[in-house]
Amino acid sequence: MNAKIAGLGYYVPKRVVTNDELSKHMDTSDEWIQERTGIKERRYGDMPNETTSTMAKEASLIAIERAGIQKEDIDFIIFATLSPDYYFPGCGVLLQRALGITGTTIGALDVRNQCSGFIYALSIADKFIKTGTYKNILVVGSEMHSMGLDFSTRGRGVTVIFGDGAGAAIVQATEEKDKGILTSHLHSDGTFAEELAMISPGSHGGFHDNDQEKYGFKKTDKPGGGYFVTQKMLDEELTTPNMNGQLVFKNAVVRFREVIHEALTHAQLEPEDINMLIPHQANLRISQFIQKSMNLSDDQVFNNIQKYGNTTAASIPIALTEAWEQGKIKDGDLVCLAAFGSGFTWGSALIRW
Ligand SMILES: CC(C)(COP(=O)(O)OP(=O)(O)OC[C@H]1O[C@@H](n2cnc3c(N)ncnc32)[C@H](O)[C@@H]1OP(=O)(O)O)[C@@H](O)C(=O)NCCC(=O)NCCS
Repeated sequence: MNAKIAGLGYYVPKRVVTNDELSKHMDTSDEWIQERTGIKERRYGDMPNETTSTMAKEASLIAIERAGIQKEDIDFIIFATLSPDYYFPGCGVLLQRALGITGTTIGALDVRNQCSGFIYALSIADKFIKTGTYKNILVVGSEMHSMGLDFSTRGRGVTVIFGDGAGAAIVQATEEKDKGILTSHLHSDGTFAEELAMISPGSHGGFHDNDQEKYGFKKTDKPGGGYFVTQKMLDEELTTPNMNGQLVFKNAVVRFREVIHEALTHAQLEPEDINMLIPHQANLRISQFIQKSMNLSDDQVFNNIQKYGNTTAASIPIALTEAWEQGKIKDGDLVCLAAFGSGFTWGSALIRW
């Protein structure tokens, strides 16, 4: 069996947030954001009516319909997100419940690989299909970043980049030999784990930087630590993401190229064979750098970060769906997906459409 993408869907909230709107809350400007990231605007969910799992449901319903299946035909869910509704349980079971497919007690798996989450999830789905375990797997990436960002000037380096949204794919078993996911490649390097991270709240207790004070952790007379979140974390707003932008940029441009070449070499293909590269929408400058260094034409690369910002695990399925809707991906095309992000983790997949 091969694994093909039988249906795609995406959902973005209605609320458009422009760079000018952000500049009312922090010291930034439309010019700075566009020049460094290419982003013009992003979407923010309508709290509390929208969450990571409700957006995922909307995207999933479209993907299910386009795949021509019933939701009861889904035999596994894989949900990638870094902004889950709850610390636990994960969004997979919330999506299962929201879709009303609890009667079949199918498995639901959450993937915590941030920007490369969708590629990790897709790769898992591919293996489950190829081993004959499942026939229709719902693979989702969804993010509600707007709930967890720092809207003061201190947070501007991170906040201006991220947006909310969801994308979904039905990965389906097919007997067609030359169709579907040809290969996928996954990597990580935990050396820089804290360089793009939201480390608190958590159970780290100040261990990794040997500094309990910094986070307000104190030994108590209770048998355990007693908390994930401290008053100091709340008072000093230590519960928002941080990013070493330049380090991320430098690693991203190397790893993106490396992992795309790895997939091409594995499939005995060349960059010119790619009909459509969908890079994770991290930053338009990163996508442009990869395009140029791989000698790809504008027609071979799809970007939509200008409209949605970086939606982390959702960015690839949203972009893939838009490219497909716009007729930019046709039967027989070679589609390449690639991502890099927090962890650091990165990956690629080649799909014969
Ligand atoms: C984040 C990023 C756009 C910052 O651009 P940069 O050119 O590296 O900018 P720097 O971080 O060096 O900051 C340059 C200056 O701009 C300022 N700055 C940072 N964010 C700003 C913002 N939103 N608006 C205005 N100024 C800002 C900095 O404070 C700094 O000021 P200083 O020179 O007075 O100290 C860039 O590093 C990047 O794109 N990195 C990759 C990030 C990414 O892709 N993340 C997603 C991972 S999947």
